[in-house]
Parts: sequence; C-alpha cells; structure tokens
Amino acid sequence: MNKLLSSLKALVSVGTCTSLAAITFFAPICSPLISISAQQKRKSVQTKQETVKLRVADQQARQRANALLAQMTLAEKIGQLNQLFFFSSLQKEESMNDGIRKGEIGSLLFVTDPATINRFQKIAVSESRLKIPLIFGFDVIHGFHTIFPVPIAMAASWDPKMVERAQTVAAREARAAGINWTFAPMVDIARDPRWGRIVEGSGEDPYLGAAMSRAQVRGFQGDRIGSPEHLLACVKHFAGYGAAEGGRDYDAANISDAQLWNVYLPPFKAAVDAGVGSVMSAYMDLNDVPATGNRWLLRDVLRKDWKFGGFVVSDADSVNDLKTHGFARDSQDAAVKALTAGVNMEMSFNATVYRKNLANAVKQNQVSIRDIDDMVRPLLETKIKLGLFENPYVDEAKVKSIFENPAHREAAKTAAERSAVLLKNQNNLLPLSKTAYKKIAVIGPLADSRQNTLGSWSLAMDINETSTILAGLKTKLGTGTQVEFAPGVQIGRIVPSVFDMTLKEKHPPAWTEVQAANEFKKAVALAKDSDIALMVLGENQDMSGEQASRSTLDLPGRQLELVQAVVAAGKPVVVVLINGRPLDITWVAQNVPSILEAWYPGSEGGNAIAELLFGDAVPGGKLPFTWIKHAGQIPLYYSHNLTQNPGEQEKRYWHEKAVPLYPFGYGLSYTTFAFSNLKVNQPEIKIGASVEVTVDVKNTGTRAGDEVVQLYIHQQAGGASRPIRELKGFERVALAAGETKTARFKLGPDELRYWNASTKAWVQEAENFDVWVGNDSSASLHSTFRVTQ
Ligand code: NOJ
Repeated sequence: MNKLLSSLKALVSVGTCTSLAAITFFAPICSPLISISAQQKRKSVQTKQETVKLRVADQQARQRANALLAQMTLAEKIGQLNQLFFFSSLQKEESMNDGIRKGEIGSLLFVTDPATINRFQKIAVSESRLKIPLIFGFDVIHGFHTIFPVPIAMAASWDPKMVERAQTVAAREARAAGINWTFAPMVDIARDPRWGRIVEGSGEDPYLGAAMSRAQVRGFQGDRIGSPEHLLACVKHFAGYGAAEGGRDYDAANISDAQLWNVYLPPFKAAVDAGVGSVMSAYMDLNDVPATGNRWLLRDVLRKDWKFGGFVVSDADSVNDLKTHGFARDSQDAAVKALTAGVNMEMSFNATVYRKNLANAVKQNQVSIRDIDDMVRPLLETKIKLGLFENPYVDEAKVKSIFENPAHREAAKTAAERSAVLLKNQNNLLPLSKTAYKKIAVIGPLADSRQNTLGSWSLAMDINETSTILAGLKTKLGTGTQVEFAPGVQIGRIVPSVFDMTLKEKHPPAWTEVQAANEFKKAVALAKDSDIALMVLGENQDMSGEQASRSTLDLPGRQLELVQAVVAAGKPVVVVLINGRPLDITWVAQNVPSILEAWYPGSEGGNAIAELLFGDAVPGGKLPFTWIKHAGQIPLYYSHNLTQNPGEQEKRYWHEKAVPLYPFGYGLSYTTFAFSNLKVNQPEIKIGASVEVTVDVKNTGTRAGDEVVQLYIHQQAGGASRPIRELKGFERVALAAGETKTARFKLGPDELRYWNASTKAWVQEAENFDVWVGNDSSASLHSTFRVTQ
C-alpha cells in the first residue's frame, strides 16, 4: 500500500498535454424502434465480408507474431509481459529508457504527454534489438480531455448508442495524444452501494450492464482492433469485484456459481462477444482464489468457454499481491501461479514479479518456453493489429485541434443531459421559468466545484474547461437574473484519499468553527432573500470511486441540516444531486418538491444541468440501481427471488417497510407517457424459438420527451427459483407531444435461458413466463406466454 501511495503522489502531474484534430461524426441522436430494414440487411452482408477480412488479418497477425517470437530471447519475451507505471513528476525518463532499450518493457501506463510518448517509443523502435513498439495504456474511463459523465451516469441514460458515441470521442482524444489502450469498460455489477466503485460501472443489472459493456467496447475499439482513431479496450475487473464483502474495496468476494453466471459474468461475456481485445484480472479473492491466480476464471471460462483470443493484464501489482493474499509462497511462486492461471501481462509499480522470476521458473521447469510463448503471442498480435509497427508515433501537431473539436463538447453536454434522472417533481415545479425569478440562490458545497463536477478518473483534462452548475446557470440566465452563490457547508473525507494527489483543483482550506457558522447563516439568509433556492448536494468526487467505500449513505457533513434550514426559509427549493451512488435522501424526498440526479456530469455538466432545469432539455434518464433508503437495507435489488410469503415482501422488517425509495429503472420526465396494447405474438413457442412482444407508448403530455420502455420477465416454475423480475429488453424512445410509437422486443433462447446450480449448466426450460412492460421495474402492464418441449 505504501508503494501505491508513493507512486500515486506522482499522479498529480498526469495529463500535462494539451492537444488534438477535428472530425465530425455525430449521427443524430434517436432511438429507432426495432425493425429489419433493407439497410440492415445490407449491413449484415457487409459485416460478413468484414468478418472474413478480420479472420485473414488475424491469421496474418499470428504469422508475424510467430516470426517475431522465433527471433526473441527468453529475456525479450519476458520483457513483453512487463507493464510499468511512469509518473513524470517522480521518475526520470532515463531509468525507463534503459529498460526499454534492453527490451525489458512491453508497455507503459500513465504517460499522457504526446512528446514523452514519442520519446519513449523512439527508444523502443529504434534502439531495442527487435524494435518492438511499446503499447501505452491509460484509464480513459469517461473521457480524456473532454470529460463525459461518470459511467454510472451514462448507464442511467439507458442509451447505448449515446454511450458508444461518448467512448468514441474519448478514444479519439486519447489516441490523438498517443494512448493506444484504455483500462475500460469497468463492468462490475454492484448491488452494494457502500462500495465506492459502483460509480465506475453500470449498476445492479446484468442485462443493462451487458448492453453498456458492448456499447463501450464498440465505442473504444470501433469495428475492429486497429480502427483508426480508436483504442484497445480492456474489460475489467474479472470478476466479482463488485461483491466485495461489506462493500469494502478490495475485500474478498464470495459469490455462488449461479450468481456468478447469471449476474456477475454476463457483462464480461458481452464484452468478449463484442471483440474486446484485453481483460484485466481483479484484485480480490473470488471464493477464496485470488482472481489474478484464478485458472478457472482466466482459462476455463474466459479462454476455453468464451473463446477469448486477446490478452489478460493484471490489476496494478496484483501478481505481487498473490503473496500478500497468502496464496503464493514467494515472488517466484506468484509469477508461476499468475502466468499459469492465464495472466499475460503484469501491471506493476515496480515489483516486476514476472521480470525478476520467470527466467528462473523456466530454468526450474515450473513453466515451459511454450507457456511463455503462449503468453507473449497475443500481446504481439495486438500490437500488430493496432498498427503500432507501421505507425508507432503520435502526430504532436494534431493533438490540440482534436481536443478543441466543438463536437466533443457538444457530445459531452448531450451525454450529461441524457444521463440526468428526475427523481421528484411535485406540482411540476420544474422546468423553471426563465423570467419568473428575479433572484436565484445557488446553495451547496458542490455548486461551484470544478473537480467535483467531473468525478473520479478525470486526469488528463484542463480543469479550466469545466462548467460548474453555478457557471452553467449564469451563462444560461445572463444578466437579467441575479444569481447568487453560498456554499453553506464544507464536506470532506475523514480518511483522506490517496487519489487526492491527482486533483487539479485542491480541496479548499478547512473553515474555522466561526467561519463555518457564518457561512451556514449566510446561505440560509441568501435563500430567504431570493425567489428560489437551487441546492447542489451530494458527495465530493473522492468520496466515490476506488478506495471510497463507506458504511453509511447519509449526505456527508452538515448538508442535511443545511437543506432543512433552507427549506424552513420558506422559498421553493430544488435539489440537484452530484454523486455516484444512492444516498440517504429520505428527508429531502419528503420535504423538497423537486430533485434532479445529475451524477458527476463532466466538462459540460453545468451547462447541461442549466438546460434541464430551465426546460431546454427534458430529463429522460432512469436509475441503473435500486435507490435504497439507507445502508441497513443492503442488499436490496429488484430481481430478488420470490421466497417465502412473497406477498409480505414489504414486511420483512418489523419497524419499517422493506421497500426502496425509488425502484430500479425509475425516472420522471417533464411530460407524461402511457403504455397500452401489450401483445405477445404467440401464446406458445417451442424451446429455442422466439416470441415478439410489442407495446404502444404514447406521449400524453404537451411537450416532447423520451421514455425508456422496459421489458421484464419471470419464469414461473422450473429447475430453480427464478427472480421475481428480470430486465430482458429496453428502448429509449423519443416522442413528440401526443405521438405514439410501437416498441418491439424479441424474447428467445438468449433471454429465456439461465445457469442452473443443480445441473451446473445453462438451461432453457419448458415453462410459463410472465411479461411486464412499463417505465420502471414495478411496471404493471402484464401478459404471459408458454414455452414447450
Ligand atoms: C487500479 C484499478 O483497480 C484499475 O481499475 C486501474 O485500471 C489500474 N489501477 C490502473 O490505473
């Protein structure tokens, strides 16, 4: 940990580059309903031709990689398996150059300056014996220069096409800076919001998670590995990290086989099916076997069952940590266990367990040269497919223009607008009139914090380009409206975050008691003196993310007291939330008329939220998790089993109802929608066949808006108890006022099968199924169909 801490000190200086070139690429944002058109057929012919080409490219890459392997010494092969962090503020380039020259390093991570990247690459391709280029990796999680909303927010858009476009922009900016590889998407299912990293994934549901996983892989990689202006994607953390006990980051995960296959693995499988080129092994023990030494996961599931042909990288220092876990006897044992389990590349601060031990392990016949070759080959193939041998350098002159492409900012704004979720809107207080309020109070510790508008993993941006909510409101309203700001309270972690080293905007100095009392009073007085109070509450970005777990979910600091005092001031109040997990907002939900979940909305966050508050954009996002009332309810997710006395599900506790504050899939709009005409096209189908489900959705209000049509199923009986509801289809539909559209879904073997714990296999059973369609997981429009042998 100390090692990690000291290495992280250097992150402060990450992202010094200022760069990039412009290309317009945005298809109009729309959500067409499912229908097979001539255009799609043409596309499928094209896809087949593309697949054949790809196979040829795969074969050529294999031949070239084998030819290279034949020339490599054992040390050079082991060098390719070695990935090192480089923190420009801590380390001298010369120390790294030496290793690169000797062929001891296959990859660097955390270098984001194009000129530095070019200098390192030059050593690799002109001074190392075999001239094998380096691959540069970085955590491009929700944007690179232009920051998009955090991943949990993008999942809340229920709009995979938008998410794909967002990651396309992220890929273009990162690639322009010289990055070839992103450590994303993070697809860990999280059903315990105490776990800070819930913010990095797509929430609690495997179906939504799989859709977001595919979209992100496509966005990062394009049609194939090596698509121009794209990156190699890395799906992580394989697997089960989201189930860390007690939500405590890095703690062990104990997951039943059925839960693993049915809940935790599907988003990974979706990434593999979408052609993801790399996988990161997780830190924690999965059912007592550390994921980085877990042969079953990395070989039997990933390679044999799923036919994954790319490579696996360890999480940072997790090969070395096989010792710390009490799994490996010593470093050599750790190297052997990770390699034979299937970890191709070791990501390391400076432990370099592979580099220091694999040659000995070969000498002692613990691993064979063939084992080493099998680990190196996919790495070489990837470098070949990425075109690094032909084009190892980045064009430094183009970087700035790409960073400055206005379409990227526009995409980030659209993403923030489409990710926001309207949680409450009593008497349609929102959208606000632009003329009704002469003086607006903007109150709260997060209203004007640039760093906290961006969220964790925002490292390579220019912080000055961030639109906070206060700034967004001022821009929107101009000089006609007086907009005054008071933070009211300060919030901060009790145990500081190691990642605070990376902050571009430091936490402000802590107030004295007297200052704190004055600031609180000032905020309440401002509310009294204004026509409306817009409060921006939630969590600082370092309260949500890696090493940001907590045992309660209350609003940190004195935020609850503040909102209570502001409400008591008697003016209308709107709460905007900045956060990455459900928080305990029960009092707010009971006493504040309107609540808008903005998440960490990114570079354009403030502008987007201003559009939403004043009705120039309409909220259409839906919760990607069950919004529980407080941490004592954990775990509480919508797709639980029926169990005993299902009718009394709400009475499981004797002192309060066992219900969430808001269900999974929930979110309001400024307009209203009605569902009708639910039809299942056949009452009965054979195993292996499909039914089509259609439903009409009508915008019954007076303004345009989006609705997310959600389809849930339940298998009524069979070889296992099946969840009360499971999401198996969704479509975000844009509707003009009064407009009706028909949404269509297919339910076939992929949707109807499940992994059965007694047969230890995927099964599809001849049983009755319920279908519900609506706009959240409590949807009531119902039908049934039957599957027969
Ligand atoms: C550790 C994190 O767990 C992982 O998600 C990240 O990609 C690596 N560090 C590299 O930064």
